[in-house]
Amino acid sequence: MAELAIIGGTGITSLPGMEIKRKRAVHTPYGEPSGPVTYGHYCGTTVVFLPRHGYGHHIPPHQINYRANLWCLQHIGIQTVLAFAAVGSIHPDMQPGDLVFPHQLIDYTWGRPHTFFEQGSHQDQPVAHIDFTDPYCERLRKCLIDAASVTSLRVHTQGVYAATQGPRLETTAEVDRLERDGCAIVGMTGMPEAALARELELCYATCAIVANAAAGRGAPTITMDEVEANMKIGVENARTLLAELLPLI
Ligand code: HPA
Repeated sequence: MAELAIIGGTGITSLPGMEIKRKRAVHTPYGEPSGPVTYGHYCGTTVVFLPRHGYGHHIPPHQINYRANLWCLQHIGIQTVLAFAAVGSIHPDMQPGDLVFPHQLIDYTWGRPHTFFEQGSHQDQPVAHIDFTDPYCERLRKCLIDAASVTSLRVHTQGVYAATQGPRLETTAEVDRLERDGCAIVGMTGMPEAALARELELCYATCAIVANAAAGRGAPTITMDEVEANMKIGVENARTLLAELLPLI
């Protein structure tokens, strides 16, 4: 049985080199996940893979069924979730292709079903307020940092992740505000995913891949060609990291 799941983000709709064992469709009380989960062997470890945007990358960030995805992973016995996510960089040290392991986040999303503790669904239980002081699992973050330390990859071992609503990119003024708030990177999928993982008591951490400089921080406009070219490099870096990481988990 696999205990580790990898959620693939933009640029990672499969894990090339993964020896696929089987796919399993899981139906959840919250609807359908982004697709069936793929069981396989990767870098010597049994893992489960789930592409957040679907296998054809067709689900936009605000329409992802985050609850179904996390519930499905917990249901099949997963305890640890490594989430890859494309981001724009706000901090000037973070360059396209770099990997960032955020240690904190700020949620700017709205209107997304964001909790398993809906009123009425647990009528026999008191109102639940999960602790979210440190939104990412330190144990998994430490594995990421240790794995990266034996590579020559450009990584940033902390940073505040701004979760925005999308699907549009930000304005310069919005990025200025995120910077004033202390955010180093900005992406559209980090929430409610991290909070839902915590509600289910999963060990969850993010490996962010810098796809572009955020709005107003690089070229006058952000093009999808630029994002795709940078993600190719970033995804290769993520694979190098995974080869070191998986034996540690
Ligand atoms: N903003 C939000 N999400 C993103 C970006 C960005 O600049 N790049 C990749 N995902």
